[in-house]
Amino acid sequence: LLDDAECAERIAAAKAQLNGRCIVLGHHYQRDEVFQHADIYGDSLKLSREAAQSAAEFIVFCGVHFMAEVADILSRPEQIAILPDMAAGCSMADMANKIKVQQCWDELAKIIDVENSVTPVTYINSAADLKAFCGQHGGIVCTSSNAQKILNWSFERREKVLFFPDQHLGRNTGYRMGIPLEHMVTWDFNKPQGGLTEQQIRDAKMILWKGYCSVHQAFQPEQIDNFKAKYPETIVISHPEACFEVCEKSDYIGSTEMILKIVREAEPNTRWLVATELNLVSRLAQETKAQGKQVHFMAPTLSMCSTMFRTDPQHLCWVLENLAAGHVVNRVSVPAEEAALAKLALDNMLLAS
Ligand code: 13P
Ligand code: SF4
Repeated sequence: LLDDAECAERIAAAKAQLNGRCIVLGHHYQRDEVFQHADIYGDSLKLSREAAQSAAEFIVFCGVHFMAEVADILSRPEQIAILPDMAAGCSMADMANKIKVQQCWDELAKIIDVENSVTPVTYINSAADLKAFCGQHGGIVCTSSNAQKILNWSFERREKVLFFPDQHLGRNTGYRMGIPLEHMVTWDFNKPQGGLTEQQIRDAKMILWKGYCSVHQAFQPEQIDNFKAKYPETIVISHPEACFEVCEKSDYIGSTEMILKIVREAEPNTRWLVATELNLVSRLAQETKAQGKQVHFMAPTLSMCSTMFRTDPQHLCWVLENLAAGHVVNRVSVPAEEAALAKLALDNMLLAS
């Protein structure tokens, strides 16, 4: 196995040999040894836009599977999206699937006029066939940085939203737009009719899929209370995948890109408690130390995203060296019909945000 230093040299050499034919995109949760090789890094929205605008022949996505799918859908047909490790999935994305969502839609259709009264909204953290489902039913995709704009778009068209797979992003965003909690219900996909009564479904403005991110679910309001008891001056900033109670106790809520921007642009000598993935927080802490900022990770345990972590420099080196030698490995390719429908929902998002 190559060590990381040797990998770094070989990755640089392969990129030089590819001479602009390849772009490496890196999500903020990637580990340092991979992140340093990204040509562009960002949150899901920024990276989707980059994928759509890139002229490169190969788009190597250091992120998770749904991100490479989005790159494939938004790029031109001759461009090739590559995921260095095919096992890099997203456990939250896996909590919703086409069969369960279709089942939910059919059950709702027995009670309300779904096609005219419900906009399906999928978080970008979902498989391509769910984006296609949204495209087919007049719906849209959202990310953590544009969720409010997307919900506005949705409510302008239909009175209700079915939001999947992340209940927390849906609830946290809806609540901040003025939707009372009692008008948001959670669809338990393991129960008939989502575990809800007909009246609850009729009264709901938002029907939230019972999915969550295990990394962000680890953050708890008590961690904020305990930390603030020691350092009352702390400013708390959380990703909207964190639960409602954590977001309620946070001074700021934002996507990964937004968290970085807010802390970077804040007054020097401030103390921050951050509820998002460890790799991002560690880099931010290092980077802002010189400004006298103290950036702390919220969870007491090491909450890192194990699937983001799957992408290591060895896999990145392997895909790039293969590309440089004329071999495409680990291509992510969404079937054409599904991609066309998913693109409708993604284009709706890009236009609305
Ligand atoms: P953003 O980078 O869009 O905030 O998303 C976080 C995330 O969990 C990606 O999987
Ligand atoms: Fe999925 Fe959570 Fe990892 Fe993001 S942090 S990729 S939502 S498991």
